[in-house]
Amino acid sequence: MTRRKQIYEGKAKVMFEGPEPGTLVQYFKDDATAFNAQKRGTITGKGVLNNRISEYLMLKLADIGIPTHFIRRLNMREQLVKKVEILPIEVVIRNVVAGSLATRFGMEEGTPLPRSIVEYYYKSDKLQDPMISEEHITCFGWATTQDLDDIMQMSLRINDFLQGLFLGIGIKLVDFKLEFGRVFNENDEMRLVLADEISPDNCRLWDSKTNEKMDKDRFRRDLGKVEEAYQEVARRLGILPEGAPGDIKGPQTVQ
Ligand code: ADP
Ligand code: TMP
Ligand code: ASP
Repeated sequence: MTRRKQIYEGKAKVMFEGPEPGTLVQYFKDDATAFNAQKRGTITGKGVLNNRISEYLMLKLADIGIPTHFIRRLNMREQLVKKVEILPIEVVIRNVVAGSLATRFGMEEGTPLPRSIVEYYYKSDKLQDPMISEEHITCFGWATTQDLDDIMQMSLRINDFLQGLFLGIGIKLVDFKLEFGRVFNENDEMRLVLADEISPDNCRLWDSKTNEKMDKDRFRRDLGKVEEAYQEVARRLGILPEGAPGDIKGPQTVQ
């Protein structure tokens, strides 16, 4: 194994220096945490599946013109990405009431929203990711109004596209979290790109017929069959790693 410089170890991934300047290797672990790492565990095979699922979704998003950090998958657990300056903001897009939205307003989980809601949270484990507004973001210099316009436009486009993609395989995209980062070109011009990952770790995915949860809520809420849920998402997307049980080719359309 080649020796690489570790840049950062997070809760779900390790970031290494990449082979070329301006790149990073993103290593997906099986570690799972919830409630700002107060709950810790392992989801066997999660890293392999999230690496594949995030690759698949980032490539699909690139196809529709969303700039992303993804360059290529390197192996079962690693992908090469553009190194970005991550904005300290978690962008949450919601289509159905669930999780903290249900708690905050005492609303029933599963209630469809009349339109999608975009929320911002400050990315700080120490402060437990407090919810923030555009005012905080622009006042504290985390992003400009123009950046936020771009982020909102990309987030809604991503939501529209992913809602359709998941619906096609019998999955309701209830909500999800995105991270964006800055990249600079040789003329020092800045561009915002989608970074981090999109996977069942940071999406709520419910079976569209039964509303069965197929995401990290199974771990957060001790619902059991956690590994199976991640596998089922990969299976329906048609991207189970080769040789895995139920390996199939191409997405499986559900009527
Ligand atoms: P956390 O930091 O919340 O524990 P992870 O374990 O997923 O999360 O660690 C990955 C870290 O790398 C995150 O903090 C994420 O913001 C950051 N990151 C994701 N993509 C990139 C990128 N392209 N360039 C730089 N940092 C990134
Ligand atoms: P929430 O309902 O707990 O606020 O979560 C909204 C969405 O964001 C859900 O799909 C899970 C995801 N999420 C993360 O990816 N990281 C986090 O730290 C939290 C709290 C939520
Ligand atoms: N970000 C949470 C944690 O820090 C994980 C989650 O609930 O998704 O553990």
